[in-house]
Amino acid sequence: MEFKKEWLEGVKAAREKAYTPYSKFKVGAYLIAKDGVTFDGCNVENAAYGDCICAERTALVSAIAHGYRPGDFEALVVTTDTENPSSPCGSCRQVIKELCDDEMPVFLTNINGDVIERTVDDLLPLGFSGRDLEDVK
Ligand code: THU
Repeated sequence: MEFKKEWLEGVKAAREKAYTPYSKFKVGAYLIAKDGVTFDGCNVENAAYGDCICAERTALVSAIAHGYRPGDFEALVVTTDTENPSSPCGSCRQVIKELCDDEMPVFLTNINGDVIERTVDDLLPLGFSGRDLEDVK
């Protein structure tokens, strides 16, 4: 899928909203639904460090809270201010797999505009899903 320039502007604006008093590491996420509606995500930190929430999950949870469902999403864009685009953590990969199609593109970017494209399945190969639960003997 072709990466749209406007998505970089969207994800950079989402990143600006990050609440990161502890790490100062701001992450932006931008989830694009198939109907064109977009959802911003940013990381939201907490003094109890384990309760920090990642940007990717913020965007996905926001979309679900607005009534969107698996199958509704076209692409996810993530950005950081790093030399190379950084990559979603394991917990985010699991939530992305739950809510997005395996073939959906995930664009890993930095604010300079470097872009790496992967699919959900690339990020979590052989991932656990609801299909495993249905396979019980
Ligand atoms: N972070 C994200 O927002 N997404 C990831 O996939 C990796 C990590 C955030 C969590 C924390 O606020 C900061 O980056 C440093 O780990």
